[in-house]
Amino acid sequence: MSNATSQVRRVVLVSSVKELARNIKGFELKATQGRLSPFTAGAHITVHLEHDVQRQYSICNDPRDSSKYQIAVLKEANGRGASRYLHEAVFPGSTLLISGPVNHFELVPDAARYVLIAGGIGITPILAMVRELSARRFANVRLHYCARSASDAAFLDVLPEICISEQVALHFDGGNPRFGLDVRHLLREPEHGTHVYCCGPVPLMRSVREAATAWPKDALHFESFKPSDGEQDGDAFDIVLRRRGTRLTVPTSKSIVQVMRENGFDVETSCEAGTCGTCKTRYTSGCPIHNDFVLSEQERNEFVMVCCARAIGTLELDL
Ligand code: FES
Repeated sequence: MSNATSQVRRVVLVSSVKELARNIKGFELKATQGRLSPFTAGAHITVHLEHDVQRQYSICNDPRDSSKYQIAVLKEANGRGASRYLHEAVFPGSTLLISGPVNHFELVPDAARYVLIAGGIGITPILAMVRELSARRFANVRLHYCARSASDAAFLDVLPEICISEQVALHFDGGNPRFGLDVRHLLREPEHGTHVYCCGPVPLMRSVREAATAWPKDALHFESFKPSDGEQDGDAFDIVLRRRGTRLTVPTSKSIVQVMRENGFDVETSCEAGTCGTCKTRYTSGCPIHNDFVLSEQERNEFVMVCCARAIGTLELDL
């Protein structure tokens, strides 16, 4: 899928809406004209709502069937309205404006084994992966599905249809991660040829990242979605573009990338969520706050991911 194609917006029909779990609804989307673009496991679409609000949702149906896109949406208690809108104002027969699909979370084709870790609504891209691997009759797969309880876990009824029980471990922690998946134990030693895919809440992804420091970096894959309509965490800070002699302020509501673009500087990005590695930038001084899932501890002494990093005080970039 080229970037140009993935940016094109199109209207799709909501052909069905289903309750999948507590506060999770599934939406099936179909083309109103022509065909939907094909997608691969791990891909997501962007839903464009009013006031330039955009949200990314992974496609969870079988990639072999691109006559529809199935997405699942968690109604966020503290969200800013997009998930509430989808839950409360979108019904069968509604239309939505979407773009994509785009995939920053592709399955590598030749792993000896896949370890898939899903937390809560993070099951959505992982489910498409399980479907694809099952269709390939690839058996060396282990899915760890973490949720607060069975009532909070979507697609539990689907899993037995697409994988055997030995491939699935359910981890219901009742809201206390101490009783959940022990990622340190799971990832205590790198396994040659194994690739780990993780999608879920940031604390889960961080704990996987930290537990897997001995693993080759290219064997670890993360998917994370950030709202693209602002509201970054943390205080305002300054950046200095050393080679250009420019100082800019990054306010609470914006990322470094957004501020640079607003000031006419081109920055290459892809995921804009700290998972793909495209925006890796050297810094020469300052105290960055790293919010990515790709840099090693050692690399963090030298680089930041400018799509998601913040800083305390002034951060000087080698740009
Ligand atoms: S654009 Fe993907 S890590 Fe920054």
